[in-house]
Amino acid sequence: MAATFEDEISVKGVTRSFPVAGGELEVLKGVDLKIKPGTLVMLKGRSGSGKTTLLNIIGGLDLPTQGEVWFEGHPLSSLTDMERTMIRRTRIGFIFQAFALMPLLTAAENVELTLRLAGVKPKLWKERVEETLALVGLEKRMKHKPYELSGGEQQRVAIARALVHRPRLVLADEPTAELDSKRSLQMIQMFKSLIVREGVTLLMTTHDPALLEVADEIYEMVDGKVQKI
Ligand SMILES: Nc1ncnc2c1ncn2[C@@H]1O[C@H](COP(=O)(O)OP(=O)(O)OP(=O)(O)O)[C@@H](O)[C@H]1O
Ligand SMILES: [Mg+2]
Repeated sequence: MAATFEDEISVKGVTRSFPVAGGELEVLKGVDLKIKPGTLVMLKGRSGSGKTTLLNIIGGLDLPTQGEVWFEGHPLSSLTDMERTMIRRTRIGFIFQAFALMPLLTAAENVELTLRLAGVKPKLWKERVEETLALVGLEKRMKHKPYELSGGEQQRVAIARALVHRPRLVLADEPTAELDSKRSLQMIQMFKSLIVREGVTLLMTTHDPALLEVADEIYEMVDGKVQKI
């Protein structure tokens, strides 16, 4: 389906505070950001600056204290929890900083879980799972459980899990942190080709200067706001 909105994601005046002993911790202090469909956007910023907090809010896993996120024209805070969950499961792929694989499921079953939750027809599961695990170079590890995989392999399962249902938006939190530089560049090239071929939008956090070079846009989280670099 062609994107019908000029901005796939629009973040306006987003703040997020967490209650902590003795008061409130203001992490996001008014974030404004527009992301166009089919772009590779990278977000950098020091540890604790609020990158994961922002990704969670953009993906509808958390709500802002103030402000709004529009995804494909929907203001996320005005949706019900169920509507937000459905958008997340069908339209968005998450690659979490801590991969969050299910420990008792194999690599293939972990990836398949995304398809179950997205309501994809069961007859499509096997082929989709196999082709996506092959895309990340894990066709020989499909039956391994997470503890039988290296850190980098687990991270690639997490990448496959985020892509298998062909989301419009991929939110990736340090998706290459466990990979060596060669494998990191391979993953970024793979993301780039998805962007070109399928018009996917990718927002990722990274600290790696080599990866920042291939971004369409770079932002930095500074003092609770994002600045364009
Ligand atoms: N649920 C929470 N309750 C209280 N404080 C929180 C909560 N979640 C995050 N924080 C705090 O908010 C700040 C930003 O956290 P966040 O995880 O967004 O940083 P980050 O930029 O992703 O860092 P890193 O690069 O280390 O992953 C941190 O100081 C963290 O301790
Ligand atoms: Mg983080």
